[in-house]
Amino acid sequence: MNELAYTTLVDGLRAVHASIEGMRVLGHEHPAVEAKCLAAATLLTRASEGLRSRRNAAGLLHVVSFDGRVACGGVPLPAAAGLASTLFANLSCVGGPALSIASKVEAGDVALLARAVLARDGTLIHATHPVRACQVVSQLAQTGTATSAAPVDPQRAGQTLHSAWESVRSGSHIPMHAVDSLAEQMHAMLRGDASALLHLSALKHHDQYTFVHTVNVSVLSASLAQACGLSDAMVHDIAVGAMLHDVGKGLVPEHILNKRGKLEGTELAVMRRHPLDGARMLIDAGNAPDMAIVIAYEHHMHLNRTGYPLPRQDHFPHLASQIVQVADMYDALRTNRPYRAGMPIEQAREIMFQGAGVSHDKALLDWFFERIAQRCADERDLSDVAANGEASATTGEIASAAATPDVTPEATARPTTAPGL
Ligand SMILES: [Fe+2]
Ligand SMILES: [Fe+2]
Repeated sequence: MNELAYTTLVDGLRAVHASIEGMRVLGHEHPAVEAKCLAAATLLTRASEGLRSRRNAAGLLHVVSFDGRVACGGVPLPAAAGLASTLFANLSCVGGPALSIASKVEAGDVALLARAVLARDGTLIHATHPVRACQVVSQLAQTGTATSAAPVDPQRAGQTLHSAWESVRSGSHIPMHAVDSLAEQMHAMLRGDASALLHLSALKHHDQYTFVHTVNVSVLSASLAQACGLSDAMVHDIAVGAMLHDVGKGLVPEHILNKRGKLEGTELAVMRRHPLDGARMLIDAGNAPDMAIVIAYEHHMHLNRTGYPLPRQDHFPHLASQIVQVADMYDALRTNRPYRAGMPIEQAREIMFQGAGVSHDKALLDWFFERIAQRCADERDLSDVAANGEASATTGEIASAAATPDVTPEATARPTTAPGL
């Protein structure tokens, strides 16, 4: 028995617990918390290497807790028993009293896990859809076997979204069966061959900007959620929430939605009502998933209490909302609009990282650009070439886009055609 590796594992687990509790007290950006996350990641990586014979076929080392005990690969860890009622009790609220440790764990992985636990502590999400953020491994990084999932048909996806948005707008029940099945179809493709789904995110030719944006955000959000190791149920819920995140724009007058210039004064105030309006509309629909309501409400709310609606002192956006926000902003920056060109990936990255660790979680941005953005960039760039005559901007518009400091989706990707959804 590899005593040293088991001791290292227990130390790593204690460090994970300390990271969560440290973040709870000190906040997610405190240097002491970052140091603890790094220590936990280092110890868990070392333990995973020392215990590689205990890893499963997917390369994961499983640690579970039951009946007040903790065990790894069937080997009891008496020294970790104290963690059963602390760390593993915390993990229970995000998917079960277990931790799956990848061959290489990074500080950002531990920070994401801690954030998932803390986000779960104080949100509206019901326990029926747990997060399994304890699986600190990138699923996208693994080359999965392609499944035979049917490809998503953009036309049908558009119809589904159209009727969902219309239902919300008219205050009637959302056709959740169709929305769920679209999300499930996306997710099935993501589980099998993620790149096939990312092709969809590069759609450029549809004449309804809102549809393209919504599908893009849904695909990118689901991809990021999966890369974070969230549970299948959570990935599904995030995909659905992303489909409905901008539904409140249905109440924004068209002359504001379509305005080519910067929004000012009252126009800006009206536009900024769409998260609150969207959440209310989803509640009124009577059958919207809780997660969709939370995402609609929080998708422009930042970690540093900027954004809108203005968060209360103790309110931090849920991890799911942060995921959708990253995807939303990325799509807004990258998409060609008649008043400015979509930005190259490097420029989008530079702008988004201006808020890293301040308004947006740095680990999420790192993960997104390392594991998602680059993968769909090639497809999107190819599509840009194909769509050149239809959607690309002039050189002058490119220049003005580069000089635009406001990176909110409303400022950068305001639809110039009626959303029609
Ligand atoms: Fe929005
Ligand atoms: Fe959006």
